[in-house]
Amino acid sequence: MLEKLSKWKSSLSSQEIKDELDQANIPKHIAIIMDGNGRWAKNKGLPRIAGHREGMKVVNKVVQKANDLGVEVLTLYAFSTENWKRPKTEVDYLMKLPERFLNNELPKLMEENVKVRLMGSIEELPEHTKKAVLKAVRETENNTGLILNFALNYGSRFELMNAIKKIAKQVEMGTLTPEELNESILEKNMMTAELRDPDLLIRTSGEIRLSNFMLWQVAYSEFWFTDVLWPDFNEKHLTEAIAVYQKRARRYGGV
Ligand code: IPE
Ligand code: IPE
Ligand code: MG
Repeated sequence: MLEKLSKWKSSLSSQEIKDELDQANIPKHIAIIMDGNGRWAKNKGLPRIAGHREGMKVVNKVVQKANDLGVEVLTLYAFSTENWKRPKTEVDYLMKLPERFLNNELPKLMEENVKVRLMGSIEELPEHTKKAVLKAVRETENNTGLILNFALNYGSRFELMNAIKKIAKQVEMGTLTPEELNESILEKNMMTAELRDPDLLIRTSGEIRLSNFMLWQVAYSEFWFTDVLWPDFNEKHLTEAIAVYQKRARRYGGV
C-alpha cells in the first residue's frame, strides 16, 4: 500500500491515506511553490488570470487540511520578486488576489485560530494589497494555531542581501564583530526569523527548480515534486506528499 503513495495518481481515498499517516511525524513546516496556474488556464482555452482565480480556491482547501493535520507553519509562495516581469494586467490581477482571498476567508481563518504572517518586500506592494494583508496580520496576531506565511514579493537572494546589509550596519556601528557573526545571527536578520526551516517543500506543475525560494532555509528540507498543476492540487495530494515525506530518512549528514 505504501508504494502506491509515492505516486500522485494513487487510487486510495483520502481517508485511507490519512489512516496511513503517522500522526507523530507530520512535517511541522510545509512550504509550497504554487505553480502552474497559467498552464491550467491555457489547457482550458482560458486567460491566465482564470488560472490564478482557480488557484486561489485551492489555497483554502490546503490551509484547512494543513491545520487539521496539525502542521505548525504553512508557507505559500504567492508572488516572487521576479514576477513583476509579467504583463501589467496579470500583475494587477495577482495583486488583487490577496485582498480577495482575505475578504472572503478572514472570518474563517479567525475561527480556525490561523495566524497570518508575511514574508517579502511588503512596502513595494500596491497600497490596496498592502492594506489588506497588513489588516489580516494585525487581526490574527494573537491566534495560536497554524501560521500561514504568505511569501509575497519574496525573493531569497534579496532576503539574503538584505540580511547581510543589516549585519554590515551592526558591524559598522560596532555592536557586532565579524568573529561574533554566526548562522543564528544571520537567521535572525532574515524574513523567516523565529520560524523553523521547512521540513517539506512541495512544488506543483512539473518544474524541478527553486525559482529563488528560501535558498538558505531548504538546506535540509525534503523535496516533493508533482506534475499536478496548482489549480488541480487538493487535500489528497497534500496528504500523499506527507506520506512520502514520512518514508524518507532525514540524515542531516549523519548515518
Ligand atoms: C503560479 O502559476 C502563480 C504565480 C507564479 C504567481 P504561474 O502563473 O507561474 O503558471 P505557469 O507556470 O505559467 O503555468
Ligand atoms: C515561482 O513560480 C513563483 C511562484 C510560484 C509565486 P514562477 O512560475 O514564477 O517560476 P519560474 O519562472 O517558472 O521559474
Ligand atoms: Mg509558473
